[in-house]
Amino acid sequence: MLENKKSLDDMVPSEIVRSLDEYIVGQEEAKRTIAIAIRNRVRRKRLPEDIRDEVTPKNILMIGPTGVGKTEIARRIAKLANAPFIKVEATKYTEVGYVGRDVESMIRDLMAASVAMVREEMAQQRHDEVDRRVEERLLDLLLPAIDKSKAETDVSVGETRERFRSMLRSGVFDEKEIEMPVDMKAHVGFELMGSSGSMEDLQNALSSIGNMFSSSSGKKTRKLSVKRAREIIEEEELDKVIDPDKAVDEAKTRAEEMGIIFIDEIDKVASHNSTSNSDVSREGVQRDILPIVEGSKVSTKWGVIDTTNILFIAAGAFSFSKPSDLIPELQGRFPLRVELHDLTADEFYRILTEPQNAITKQYKALLSTEGVNVEFDDEALHEIARIASDVNQTNDNIGARRLYTVMEKLLEELAFSADQLNGQTINITKGYVAERLNGIAEDQDLSRYIL
Ligand SMILES: Nc1ncnc2c1ncn2[C@@H]1O[C@H](COP(=O)(O)OP(=O)(O)OP(=O)(O)O)[C@@H](O)[C@H]1O
Ligand SMILES: [Mg+2]
Repeated sequence: MLENKKSLDDMVPSEIVRSLDEYIVGQEEAKRTIAIAIRNRVRRKRLPEDIRDEVTPKNILMIGPTGVGKTEIARRIAKLANAPFIKVEATKYTEVGYVGRDVESMIRDLMAASVAMVREEMAQQRHDEVDRRVEERLLDLLLPAIDKSKAETDVSVGETRERFRSMLRSGVFDEKEIEMPVDMKAHVGFELMGSSGSMEDLQNALSSIGNMFSSSSGKKTRKLSVKRAREIIEEEELDKVIDPDKAVDEAKTRAEEMGIIFIDEIDKVASHNSTSNSDVSREGVQRDILPIVEGSKVSTKWGVIDTTNILFIAAGAFSFSKPSDLIPELQGRFPLRVELHDLTADEFYRILTEPQNAITKQYKALLSTEGVNVEFDDEALHEIARIASDVNQTNDNIGARRLYTVMEKLLEELAFSADQLNGQTINITKGYVAERLNGIAEDQDLSRYIL
């Protein structure tokens, strides 16, 4: 996570596109548009404040059928940027005032993702120190009778401790039960601080207060396995080495300036004839989204988050509605439009092999854990791509996801009996593919269920 990768802020659009190329085949236009949007965010940050406020960030609307890379592009961008990222579905939200999730919760979720990310990084930096402290505390629990101050002088005590240390490291104590005081107050404090104002939070906080008064002391002795104790101690020690104020500050900056929110299924809250009640509430969701996208202040348990510079990427298939069916104000907030196209058989072939996490690489790796070496012939890969493309045409078009169903079927036998093939190399030839898939692919009814 902390490897020295070039910050997305320093990357020019062509470099961003090149990085996306490592994972996403085709969709050149979408990649370019995203790269420009990301770069514009950096450019805007460099402007003097008075002009900066005039330049509104440009959000993106991705339009395209299912399974062609919309979510994947957004996810990769976030990974590249090391930016807090969340993916939400527009249909999950309900208009303010109705029961359900209000749209502001997406900002709280983004901030939560940011906090987790920063904490993780800070923990990684202090990794060795935390590990050392955890080990000492576990040893104290395992050797309660031995006075630590004596350990330095008394040779045999010191030796015992070292012997226990190596046993602890080897994991022999993992399932052993020990007694340990668990701090109840810590949790209460967290929840009280953590209330963000919603009804649910309030209820949680109230019940925490109740708990606080019912348990006279903050600590309760619990019987736990060493393994579980280690987790708890790790959390406690992490809290000690991570400065929470610093973590929250950093997380807030990251969420506000680099955060990316991917709103999927935006087309499902658009409607072309606002007559029924459900249309009205969908429009309500759009109206609720509007201020957040425009830039507003949302209160979270970590403080108020300004949404002005958060990048929003909305996506949808728009097969039953058009972007112009969104309310005009919202359309205006997503000025960058990009269309993703259906993938061709040729692109399927490339998706099978080229991306860093390509499906064939995944299967090879999976089966290699059982000592089976799988080799795919080039001809076979072309055949798989062709079949996937054909099935998409005769049945529902599910885009690249079809490759997964086809591959799964193709390698079913292998996956089932891999344990008996230890040490062997299996060549997936064109014949192997034809034998297992042609019969199914050509039978429309059959392929509908199986592929
Ligand atoms: N152009 C592509 N290059 C590489 N892999 C792809 C591409 N398009 C899709 N995939 C793979 O197919 C799967 C589905 O893609 P993705 O989640 O991006 O679909 P989507 O366009 O968001 O579809 P939906 O509208 O259903 O959400 C992912 O596992 C992804 O890796
Ligand atoms: Mg998607």
